[in-house]
Amino acid sequence: MDLENKNVALVTGSTGGLGTAICIRLANDGYRVVANYNNEEKAAAWKIKMKGLGYDFDMYQGDVSDYDAVEKMIGKVEREIGGIDILVNNAGITRDGAFRKMTPSNWDAVLKTNLYSVFNCTRNVINQMIEREFGRVINISSVNGQRGQFGQANYSAAKAGMHGFTKTLAMEVARKGITVNTISPGYIGTDMVMAVAEEIRNKIVAEIPIGRLGGTEEIAHLVSFLASKEASFITGANYAINGGQHVY
Ligand code: CAA
Repeated sequence: MDLENKNVALVTGSTGGLGTAICIRLANDGYRVVANYNNEEKAAAWKIKMKGLGYDFDMYQGDVSDYDAVEKMIGKVEREIGGIDILVNNAGITRDGAFRKMTPSNWDAVLKTNLYSVFNCTRNVINQMIEREFGRVINISSVNGQRGQFGQANYSAAKAGMHGFTKTLAMEVARKGITVNTISPGYIGTDMVMAVAEEIRNKIVAEIPIGRLGGTEEIAHLVSFLASKEASFITGANYAINGGQHVY
């Protein structure tokens, strides 16, 4: 890639397991990585850790579930760093529980953080991308948006919604040099997956033909590929990366 004119990549939910691996990989690829976070305390510790590894990321606070906060944050990034070329909609949470007990607040929290965030962030970068006739929008969904999972009616709905969004936006901006794709990771060795009770998690791992959890860097590798200029004919796609757990 053209290192003299570094493309800017915004990664939401950067301080989580996948977010961290994606930031590191995109920085290694030569992008100027802007790391979005919500929790100040967690972000401060993350920044120190990343500096220790040799990465000095530009960090921007913003609750991705809140449209006004995102609009302000992206405006600030554009003024201080420049237009965003690569948007990785990665921020996500779980509030697992059987549907018959699911509270409206657990429904709202997951839909707002995992799906509304995709609207909030993409809506605020897309016109700039159209003006510059280049852009990459990469939505991090889940195998559980493709197949469903006991206890995840909220999460599966949000994650399936992300790919519906991908398909339509891909069509709308295809002539503008912008690609929009979904990545659907299976069970990856992140804190989110490690929070599932061990007994349940072991049963899930037993269902994965490859016989192990995925690595965060394996997802980051796919993000890197889709972000590249060479991936310009790939749009509206949904990449499954799940160790064979769900084949269709
Ligand atoms: N399949 C069928 N029945 C199940 C079940 C399952 N997987 N899990 C629980 N049940 C049954 C229970 O035995 C119980 O039956 P009875 O009412 O007859 O006693 C009933 O369903 C309700 O069970 P609980 O009261 O335990 O339900 P709960 O509301 O506490 O929720 C759960 C259970 C926490 C959701 C648990 O099933 C679980 O952790 N499941 C895994 C969820 C999961 O995979 N999350 C992924 C997180 S990581 C991630 O999301 C990343 C990614 O993209 C992959």
